[in-house]
Amino acid sequence: MKLFLDTANVDQVAEIASWGILDGVTTNPSLVAKEGKDSSSNSLQAFKETVLKMCELVPCVSAQVTETEFEGMKKQADEYSSWHKHVVVKVPMTVEGLKTISYCKGKGIKTNCTLVFSANQALLAAKAGATIISPFIGRLDDAGQDGMGLIAEIMTIWDNYDFDTEVLVASTRNPRHIVEAGEVGAHICTIPYGLFIKLPKHQLTDIGLKKFQDDWNKVKS
Ligand code: G3P
Repeated sequence: MKLFLDTANVDQVAEIASWGILDGVTTNPSLVAKEGKDSSSNSLQAFKETVLKMCELVPCVSAQVTETEFEGMKKQADEYSSWHKHVVVKVPMTVEGLKTISYCKGKGIKTNCTLVFSANQALLAAKAGATIISPFIGRLDDAGQDGMGLIAEIMTIWDNYDFDTEVLVASTRNPRHIVEAGEVGAHICTIPYGLFIKLPKHQLTDIGLKKFQDDWNKVKS
């Protein structure tokens, strides 16, 4: 399973990439805004610089379009994809988004269909030619639905057909989400920084390491 970092912060990408296990980054307008920038045209240059720095660190960086009509999304897809070969254009799951994904497929532009909340949406995005689809499991859980159940449902459908589209588990909120994504065979998990840095840790690892060090110090003295 590939692991992506869900962030618009380049320092966080550099830190996790230095572990040698990071496969990509997902950004979205909310994450960009959190870093003090927005995705409007007057800060497009800043967004581009951020994306380009990330592209030097990882092989796959999702950059989300902010237009909502096909013509606008198409232009943004053309622009973003011209920045770097590692850019994946993130497109929302709407009818206009499907047209954009289909257009991108025809032009060889990689896409990540975001805001997927149902198996039918996943199916349509795959048929349109999305490189990646992003079901948001945490937000489904928040709404009283079964987020991981949706991933399992999508993986069952994928088992029946020949889709190349990778299933990315988005809106992860806790370490069990990563384990369960692996259990159902999801291709990718995107993980926020605060959750990512918890993953290498275990209390028994810390206790075990301290004991090894204490015992070694006894041998040395
Ligand atoms: O990648 C999607 C993610 O950023 C959404 O997460 O926690 O806002 O639902 P969240």
